[in-house]
Amino acid sequence: MKIALASDHAGREYRKAIGADLASQGFSVIDLGVPDGVESADYPDYALKAAEAVASGACDRGVLICGTGTGMAMAANKVKGVRAANCTGELMARLARRHNDANVLALGSRLLGLELALAIVEAFLTTGFDGGRHQARLAKLQG
Ligand code: RB5
Repeated sequence: MKIALASDHAGREYRKAIGADLASQGFSVIDLGVPDGVESADYPDYALKAAEAVASGACDRGVLICGTGTGMAMAANKVKGVRAANCTGELMARLARRHNDANVLALGSRLLGLELALAIVEAFLTTGFDGGRHQARLAKLQG
């Protein structure tokens, strides 16, 4: 599975840790920045790069990290075909997959410990979509 990974400055350290963890598990990780040395970055710039990679089919899922996850999710959800969920726990991530078929995960590095963030990523990437009644609801989201 190919993962588009991106952060702003606030999420940089978590992005690196998550990227290393995913690579060690055999995921193909496409790191879209923010580059080292950039002290302050605008989260929409990086959210859009990853969201577009998912929407185009170049990547299967996206993982975005900023301070709270809020800005990343807002920006990613502007891209047609992207369903981004800002998750603060493993159950939330599992349900975002099972019920909402979320294809992008947003995380807040200032709100979550790294261990929890890694567990949320794993829950997100290993849970499938339930389909059925949820599919009809998702159809109503299509622009
Ligand atoms: C950056 O200070 C912070 O605003 C950003 O990382 C994010 O939390 C926005 O939603």
